[in-house]
Amino acid sequence: MGKLNGKVALVSGSGRGIGRSIALKLASEGAAVVVNDLYPETGDAVAEEIRSLGGRACAVNGSVAEPGFAERFVGAAVEQFGGLDIIVNNAGYTWDTVVQKMTDEQWYAMLDVHLTAPFRIMRAAQPVIRDLHKADMEAGVRNVRKVVNISSMAGQFGNAGQLNYTAGKAGIIGMTKTLAKEWGRMAVTVNCVAFGVIKTRLTATTGDGATAKIDGRDIKVGINAGLLKMIEATVPLGRAGTPEEAAGSVFMFCIPESDYVSGQVIACSGGLTGL
Ligand SMILES: NC(=O)c1ccc[n+]([C@@H]2O[C@H](COP(=O)([O-])OP(=O)(O)OC[C@H]3O[C@@H](n4cnc5c(N)ncnc54)[C@H](O)[C@@H]3O)[C@@H](O)[C@H]2O)c1
Repeated sequence: MGKLNGKVALVSGSGRGIGRSIALKLASEGAAVVVNDLYPETGDAVAEEIRSLGGRACAVNGSVAEPGFAERFVGAAVEQFGGLDIIVNNAGYTWDTVVQKMTDEQWYAMLDVHLTAPFRIMRAAQPVIRDLHKADMEAGVRNVRKVVNISSMAGQFGNAGQLNYTAGKAGIIGMTKTLAKEWGRMAVTVNCVAFGVIKTRLTATTGDGATAKIDGRDIKVGINAGLLKMIEATVPLGRAGTPEEAAGSVFMFCIPESDYVSGQVIACSGGLTGL
């Protein structure tokens, strides 16, 4: 028996990296997962991987920043799996530069993906969760639903060159705390995980100016090998985390053992308490 048998989860940006590990972890514990990614082939591959392991999954691909996406995403949970119990707002990327060089486009791209997209997903989810909760109450069923938002230690402590990203990642902490207050009455916990350094494409030591096509733009991905080494040296556990370890911290907020924890931010950072 998994800890999430019968639950239905949305995980945005789950075609690779931390999101993929979250989707696989939730599915391995019995949740049906609606996978999402910008790249349909990666989103589809994760949904297929879950099904091949005996789990339940479908993919709703496309950018979380697109108008109308939230309704399709939430709608799929209900139409494909008949419920909505867990929402993980994970999709995101960085588009760095110093303030004097930052364009409006660069600024708004970060707010769109890290704030507007989770806002729209939670707005679309509210009437669905309200009705499901009402039905639970009428049936005498106790079901605590879960939202886990993904932030960054950069959002908590600041990081030079990331004014846009840190604004988004700080903002999602405020949204977490507010939604915990609005949704407590629907028996929903809303928490946030702020990652330190986790080994994914975002922090890969490409060193060759690698880019990825994100929302139609060529965005630089990865960080300098020397910088990663320097950061890792400041981590008490002495290394960057793995996507599986990152997923474990999200999972903690999805299980019944955390049913009375809400409005919190935890760092998943190998013991790093600041930047
Ligand atoms: N890796 C780290 O060290 C680290 C640290 C702090 C916070 N985070 C956060 O964790 C989350 C996951 O990052 P990751 O390290 O796994 O990165 P990643 O690049 O490995 O994976 C991110 C995934 O999100 C998808 N994505 C990006 N923009 C999207 C959009 N608009 N719509 C749908 N999907 C989109 C990408 O295609 C990709 O599959 C992000 O929110 C990131 O900001 C990561």
